[in-house]
Amino acid sequence: MLDHATDVHGDGETSVVVADINADMLAEGRKRARASRHGAGARLAFVEANAQDLRAAGMADASFDLYTVAFGIRNFTDPAPALREAFRVLKPGGVFACLEFSKISAPLPLLRTLYTSWNFAVIPLLGQLVAGDRDSYRYLAESIERFPDQRTFGDMIKAAGFVVPRSGPAWEDLSGGIVAIHKGIKPLE
Ligand SMILES: C[S@@+](CC[C@H](N)C(=O)[O-])C[C@H]1O[C@@H](n2cnc3c(N)ncnc32)[C@H](O)[C@@H]1O
Repeated sequence: MLDHATDVHGDGETSVVVADINADMLAEGRKRARASRHGAGARLAFVEANAQDLRAAGMADASFDLYTVAFGIRNFTDPAPALREAFRVLKPGGVFACLEFSKISAPLPLLRTLYTSWNFAVIPLLGQLVAGDRDSYRYLAESIERFPDQRTFGDMIKAAGFVVPRSGPAWEDLSGGIVAIHKGIKPLE
């Protein structure tokens, strides 16, 4: 994101706060960031935080322009308070953008069946063979299955106070809906 801000928009000021509840994940992120051109600079901070209570991590109301979460919200114990927190910390006009596993679109029922079977049979097996960890990959399949479909998740985003596009789809499906991008905007006051 900082590369994009810098190289595409000539923006040398935007800063990014990376938040995760897991200190080990943050340490890994920090390690990777150190190897990047932004790693040692003031534009990148790593904060241990529960997305369901960002106030506890000192994140003030209306303090961010963009809140983005990728393959994360599915793992939160309860996404609804996390969406409300995203709304709180964004400035009016700020953007919520979420990339997450979703549901294969309706005209593709055979693909949906194959995909579910693949997730529950093949992915845990590969996890066992490659990482020696079947359970984590079984959890991955279960969490994908449990996460709400695009419409339901879109309604949750609206319930948190965001506005979503009125014309056209309120989300963007990738690979037939295996993954979807949802966006919401905090209304101007
Ligand atoms: C599958 S990883 C994705 C990490 C990263 N977004 C990526 O794409 O590489 C999910 C992350 O969500 C974090 N997580 C789970 N519950 C959380 C919560 N309540 N608040 C903040 N982070 C959370 C986990 O610690 C984990 O690092």
